[in-house]
Amino acid sequence: MPSRAAPVIATSAANSAALPAPAHVRAISPYQPGKPIDELARELGLAPEAIVKLASNENPRGMPASARRAMERAMREVGRYPDSNGFGLKSALAQKFAVPMDWLTLGNGSNEILELAAATVLEPGASVVYAQHSFAVYALATQARGGRHIVVPARDYGHDLDAMAAAIESDTRLVYIANPNNPTGTFAGAERVAAFLARVPSHVVVVLDEAYNEYLAPERRFDSTRWVREFPNLLVSRTFSKAYGLAGLRVGYGVAQPELTDLINRVRAPFNVNVLAQAAATAALADEEFLAESYALNRAGMLQLTAAFRQMHLRYVPSAGNFVLVEVGAADRVNSELLQRGVIVRPVANYGLPNWLRVTIGTPAENDKFIVSLGPALASARGAEASPASSPASSA
Ligand SMILES: Cc1ncc(COP(=O)(O)O)c(C=O)c1O
Repeated sequence: MPSRAAPVIATSAANSAALPAPAHVRAISPYQPGKPIDELARELGLAPEAIVKLASNENPRGMPASARRAMERAMREVGRYPDSNGFGLKSALAQKFAVPMDWLTLGNGSNEILELAAATVLEPGASVVYAQHSFAVYALATQARGGRHIVVPARDYGHDLDAMAAAIESDTRLVYIANPNNPTGTFAGAERVAAFLARVPSHVVVVLDEAYNEYLAPERRFDSTRWVREFPNLLVSRTFSKAYGLAGLRVGYGVAQPELTDLINRVRAPFNVNVLAQAAATAALADEEFLAESYALNRAGMLQLTAAFRQMHLRYVPSAGNFVLVEVGAADRVNSELLQRGVIVRPVANYGLPNWLRVTIGTPAENDKFIVSLGPALASARGAEASPASSPASSA
């Protein structure tokens, strides 16, 4: 008689060791994503609506209605493969940035653009330069290809671009710069970036990761595609996941001169951006109203959170993104306390910042729930610290 139970598949460390993965793949610590709302809801026995997630730098407004409509129209195309060259979206991007279409690469999120850059230029043993406390995917993309990490100490939590230029070695193939940076929110102005680019040897590819570009205040914005025209070794990456509100669809893009773009597209998987994502991103790109409203909401939310931090005498790093890093002491304990109160933020110990939490700017009500929960969470965490016998770690 057939059994209804799921089959038990025996695995063991010995089995895994026999698999042919190279040592540099075995050494990877997987990316730690923000905790999903449904997971916490199951753990706490709460309705998902009662939980606030400020952990993954998403747009709290969700997707634009214009993108939803475009996606609904595109549903009828889903039985066919997407346009592997992304003609519609690339045309819109080409027009927006006044660049030819063969300067553009579409990615499954800008994450894929970061990975493609490494896949294009790295060979095992070659080095990659990136900053301490910069986006985790730089280390992962380097590690996955057996690259050597040159991690340049941060300066005031941000990129020390002079030190990064000086850190480039003869075998360096790639430099990653996040501007603004995640998780610190720091920003390097146009003059500093231009001076850095001028110092980088032409055989080293620079990835300028501008995932949070649309959140920059107008006076800080600059046209980085201008540098793409000047530097054949520069790849600028951007995303639809943040200000455009399409994180779940996974779509981003890179802008580089055609020689570099051509190489990147040799390692890109065909059909990497799906039909719905292409349609939604094309509509979102044209939706300037949604973008302006998202910018304004973020700015107001940033003021709301930072005012509360100042009132609570908590140190924070001024941020140019849609998130802010705040120093809370034992962040793992404070994080547990916040989770108990239905608030998900991001601990950043894996970024070498064990006393800090990264908080995404939400709607005014979400920010408020976080602020209201933070005081008691800090008090409970400090109480637990003072009496270790009652702490979750020691009672486990
Ligand atoms: C600095 C930075 N770059 C790139 C990404 C990748 O985002 P996505 O793949 O959703 O475009 C993120 C995501 O959090 C990020 O913080």
